[in-house]
Amino acid sequence: MEALLATLPAAGGGAVVAAAAVVGLAAITRVRMESKKRPNAPPAIPGLPIIGNLHQLMEAKPHKTFAKWSETYGPIYTLNIGALPTVVLNSTEVAKEAMVAKFSSISSRKLTKALSLLSRDKMMVAISDHGDFHKIGKRFAMMGLFGFSAQKQFWDTRKQMMDNMISTFRTSVIDDPHATHDFRKVFRDELFRLSMIQSLGEDVSSVYVEEFGREISKDEICQIIVIDIMQCLSAVDWRDFFPYFNWVPNKSFDTRVTTTEARRTVVMRALINQRKERIESGEARVSYLDFLLENSTLTEEQLMMLVFEVIAGGTETTMMTTEWAMYELARNREKQDRLYQEIQEVCGDDTVTDDHLPRMPYLNAVFHETLRLHPAATLLPPRFIHETTTLAGYQVPAGTEVMINVYGCNMDKNQWEDPEEWRPERFLDSKFDVTDMYKTMSFGAGKRICIGSAQATSISCTAIARFVQEFTWRVREGDEDKGDTVQLTGYKLQPLYVHLSPR
Ligand code: HEM
Repeated sequence: MEALLATLPAAGGGAVVAAAAVVGLAAITRVRMESKKRPNAPPAIPGLPIIGNLHQLMEAKPHKTFAKWSETYGPIYTLNIGALPTVVLNSTEVAKEAMVAKFSSISSRKLTKALSLLSRDKMMVAISDHGDFHKIGKRFAMMGLFGFSAQKQFWDTRKQMMDNMISTFRTSVIDDPHATHDFRKVFRDELFRLSMIQSLGEDVSSVYVEEFGREISKDEICQIIVIDIMQCLSAVDWRDFFPYFNWVPNKSFDTRVTTTEARRTVVMRALINQRKERIESGEARVSYLDFLLENSTLTEEQLMMLVFEVIAGGTETTMMTTEWAMYELARNREKQDRLYQEIQEVCGDDTVTDDHLPRMPYLNAVFHETLRLHPAATLLPPRFIHETTTLAGYQVPAGTEVMINVYGCNMDKNQWEDPEEWRPERFLDSKFDVTDMYKTMSFGAGKRICIGSAQATSISCTAIARFVQEFTWRVREGDEDKGDTVQLTGYKLQPLYVHLSPR
């Protein structure tokens, strides 16, 4: 957002901006007059001419500002982000109404330029509109990857992943008992390995990329198809807020996003071609790509995007959630001890496995409390109202963008006592069902609910339990209050560094 306001005058140049501003002003005036005419509109946040409420969102954490406004204006209100009339939802009740009851009127996506380019214009299940591509993509993902029988094929790989992480930490503790350990690096490496095996049938160690003229390592593959893309997704282009300025170039933004997208594409193509060559040479493997090649008539581009989606989605969301859980446990010794006690009672001398999870209510509470306080997606990808509807009793016209503030829902003081505190005990209350995976809004709701939630829950809970079973965790000195995020994302700003003592 800072970049947005900083680039605005420079990008257009005097006469261009002036001319476009006239067009813009006319459009905004029209929107405002229309909203004035509407009797039962949600409360509006006062803003400025032309830029609307944009200047109030400059600190790059809009989810926090939205949550603060909801204390004054209520769980639903409207604002103008630049020229776009937007309704923001900040309570579970209203968000669910939009995502479940009113889904048929709010089922399409309004994408930012970055999302549009990186998703190749909605060619991802999570970013697509509700239609044929979404239905087919979701069905393939369930059958080829997330369904029970598909998941069963990867149980051994998942167990191996847990063993590898424990052994990496153990070796490094033996080497230097006082060392600090980079949790993110160890966990991401193993999750990426699992994602590659699930998606491409093997732990790819390198791939030759013709366009780069060289072989790239596994770390580079992860950087290009996961980390760079996730960082680029939250890139803001000021033209997103002023669609009538679309014709004005924004070179730095365009270059960054198109380069990141192009690099992702050539690496994904190289990975897919490498796998195809192995299939042709008769090498059989269980993988999502093998499943899609056998069972679908997708275009090359669709195939690439669906496989990319599960690799990128599968790695970062689970990594972020588990990192936050370990951060909270490492700085809350009392809660860590309580979890360790539960592990001992349930597992005794046995190593924790998925089978133990249903008997571990405190672990379940730790996971859900982490999702509540640190959602991986603070704001859901925007939706768009394509036919006038009502929300919380207010009339919301077609053409309005809908922002669902997951962070705001999870911090709602009317629903959660002391919401800013990480307190797993709140989920031990009998009003919460242990088996309910959607106690917070962090996996979404309704028809677009997360399809990876079962896998993420099981990997994250088993990992947390095994980490606590094997070691006592303590955050690096001085890092006790490093709870900030990277802008509006769910990424922990400072990667987690810990001291470990074997139990
Ligand atoms: C803790 C981990 C995770 C969190 C917090 C999370 C969060 C979410 C949320 C909030 C949505 C709903 C988006 C919306 O309504 O606009 C979603 C959808 C989705 N998630 Fe996840 N996710 C996680 C793990 C995963 C994993 C591991 C995968 C796949 C490998 C995955 C794949 C998807 C897909 C494909 C959708 C789109 C579903 C649809 O639109 O029908 N997620 N996720």
